Amino acid sequence: MNRSATFRKTVRVVAGSASLLLGKELATALKADLVPVAFEKHPGGFPDGERYVRLTAPVKGQEVVLIQSTFPDTKIVELFLLQDALADEGARRIDLVIPYFGYGRQDKKFEAGEPISARALAHRLQVHADRVLTVSVHNPEVLRFFDVPAEDVSGMPAVARYLKGRGVDIVLAPDANAQRFAREVGQSLGADWDFLEKKRLDSFSVEMKPKALDVRGRSVAIVDDVISTGATIATAARMLRDQGASHVVAACVHGLFASDALQRLQACDEVVATDTLLSPATKASVAPELAAALA
Ligand code: R5P
Repeated sequence: MNRSATFRKTVRVVAGSASLLLGKELATALKADLVPVAFEKHPGGFPDGERYVRLTAPVKGQEVVLIQSTFPDTKIVELFLLQDALADEGARRIDLVIPYFGYGRQDKKFEAGEPISARALAHRLQVHADRVLTVSVHNPEVLRFFDVPAEDVSGMPAVARYLKGRGVDIVLAPDANAQRFAREVGQSLGADWDFLEKKRLDSFSVEMKPKALDVRGRSVAIVDDVISTGATIATAARMLRDQGASHVVAACVHGLFASDALQRLQACDEVVATDTLLSPATKASVAPELAAALA
C-alpha cells in the first residue's frame, strides 16, 4: 500500500484554538476525523491566563495532522502543550501545519544582539513534529531552520479564487520582495501584474516611491503575504487612487490587522484575507492547498 493511501485511512486532525475553523475545513477536505480538544479546565480558563489543552479522543497509533498558527504568543504555548499531549498519548506521526508562522519576519539578525526569532521558534516547534508545513511564509529560506522536512504551501491560490470574476485589471505587490505574490495571483487571474517600491521607515510607517503605472480607470488588487498595521497597503492605495485607480482591493494571506489597521485600510474599497488567521476580512480558505500537500 502506498503512503498516501495509508495516510488517508488513519489520519486525524487536531486543531489548536488559533486554527479551529481552518482545522475543520482541512479535516473535511482530507475526509479525516477532527479530534475534539478541550481548551479550558475551568469555565473562563485559569485565573492567571495560562493555557490548558486536553485531547478528548484517543490518538494512540494514529497519524495526526496538528494545525495551529503561532499568533498571538499564547498560541505558541498552546501548540507546545498539544505536541506534548499527542506524543504522550502515543500518536504515531505528527504532521505539523503552521498556517501563519509568527516571528517568520525576523529571519536574520538585523542588529547585533538580536536573536534569529524564526530559527528560535523552528528549533522548538520541531520537537514532536515529523514534518512541517507553513503557508506563504514570509521568507521560505527560514524552512532550513527545521531539521525535519519542511515545506511551504502558497496561500495565493486561495486569494486568486476569491478575486476571480471580480473584475481585477491589475495585481500589484507593494514591494519587490512581494512580486512573486503579484505574479502568482496575476497569472492565475489572467491580469497584468507589477510591483511598487516601498521604503520602510519604522514598524508603523512606510514611504512609497512614485512609479509610472497604467492604473487610470482600472481596478487594482494589491497583494501581500501579511498585513500588520496596514501602513504598507494604505499608503499604496492612496498613491494608486491619486494615479486614478477606479477600485482598490487589499488582499493578503495573513491578516494580522494590528491595532487600528482595519480603520487605516478604509483607504481601500475592500480588504480580503484567508483563514490562516481569523478576522472580519477572512473570506478565502487555504484548506484545499493544504489538503493537497498532505494527501
Ligand atoms: C513585509 O515585508 C511584509 O511582506 C508586509 O509588507 C508587512 O509585514 C506589512 O506590514 P504593515 O501592514 O504593518 O505595513
